[in-house]
Amino acid sequence: MTHDVSATAVESAITSPFLRACRGLEPAHTPVWFMRQAGRSLPEYLAIREGVPMLESCFRTDMVVEITMQPVRRHGVDAAIFFSDIVVPLKAIGIDLDIVPGTGPVVADPIRSADQLSTLRDLEPDDVTSITDAVKGLVQELGETPLIGFAGAPFTLASYLVEGGPSRDHRRTKELMYRDPELWHALLGRIAAIASQFLRLQVEAGASAIQLFDSWAGALSPVDYDTYVRPHSAAVLESVADLDVPRIHFGVGTGELLSRMGEAGADVVGVDWRVPLDEAIGRVGNRAVQGNLDPTVLFAPTDVVHERAARIIDAGRAAHGHVFNLGHGVLPATDPDALTRLVDFVHGYQPES
Ligand code: CP3
Repeated sequence: MTHDVSATAVESAITSPFLRACRGLEPAHTPVWFMRQAGRSLPEYLAIREGVPMLESCFRTDMVVEITMQPVRRHGVDAAIFFSDIVVPLKAIGIDLDIVPGTGPVVADPIRSADQLSTLRDLEPDDVTSITDAVKGLVQELGETPLIGFAGAPFTLASYLVEGGPSRDHRRTKELMYRDPELWHALLGRIAAIASQFLRLQVEAGASAIQLFDSWAGALSPVDYDTYVRPHSAAVLESVADLDVPRIHFGVGTGELLSRMGEAGADVVGVDWRVPLDEAIGRVGNRAVQGNLDPTVLFAPTDVVHERAARIIDAGRAAHGHVFNLGHGVLPATDPDALTRLVDFVHGYQPES
């Protein structure tokens, strides 16, 4: 009995609609935030980034705070996503890489042999003090709005490290996986340790949820996902279980992997737009879902945007919890006002009961 009373007290103490939905509790309204909300669709972002390379801006406390705040101020979203990049912890341990505009992360010496594994040393708190300082500053500035910390999942980071840059087919990455499973597991184990530490440091500095991005996992067959990838993603998610923050796990084109990504230890499974949300909910079972409006719908007339959004909110009623989001990141050409209108619509929409 006592247990029930205190559980209820804890539950009602959580007021953030985003955190409530992540935990399967009824929120005051459907929460919404956007992947890549802190970025190129905003003129104020382009202005502050003028002349500052992407990676440099990720290590500048003042810029991280300001860019993270911009979409929260402008759109009134229910969560902030920390402005950084999945390759930032790799840069922080000294890997020679850059983020090339219009291309993405490019690694100078791709990792393809056992000798090179030693370059992937553990991430130490001192490597990222400017970043953890930004998290601490943000938590003060955000007040009631939760901050989502994030990391790249082992497979997606391995793809950049092995290919040396973005890849359509992940050929070299998969070749390594099949040719030398021992090296593969050692590589993913190293990356998992780095990602785990990056997440832990963000939560210890005040982030109240985390998202593990396995953006390119959709390139894998289910058997390869289970054999070569899931154990390492599961290790990352498990490594932060003791911190008791909701763990979101997302990938693109992962319709056939959704149940497996949930079983890797996610509290919330991110869904892209290729799967109808009601089907996704059936696949993830007793976990919350996040998604899943096609980002290009934001280029449609407002009535079309609202019709599609309403459909998603209605479907989300059947979930253990639903966080409204896009099915992938905001496209740079998106009209920021379309995002603000969508936030207002999601907050005001009364679902069919
Ligand atoms: O979501 C947010 O607003 C927070 C910031 C964030 C960025 N990258 C900033 C960024 C987050 C969460 C990421 C994650 C990320 N980075 C992922 C996983 C999410 C996803 O989109 O699938 C991946 C795969 C990367 C790697 C990466 N970094 C790519 C593919 C690119 C785009 C390259 C391009 O120019 O088209 C980047 C660069 C990047 N990361 C930008 C931003 C705002 C653009 C940099 C710029 O403004 O020049």
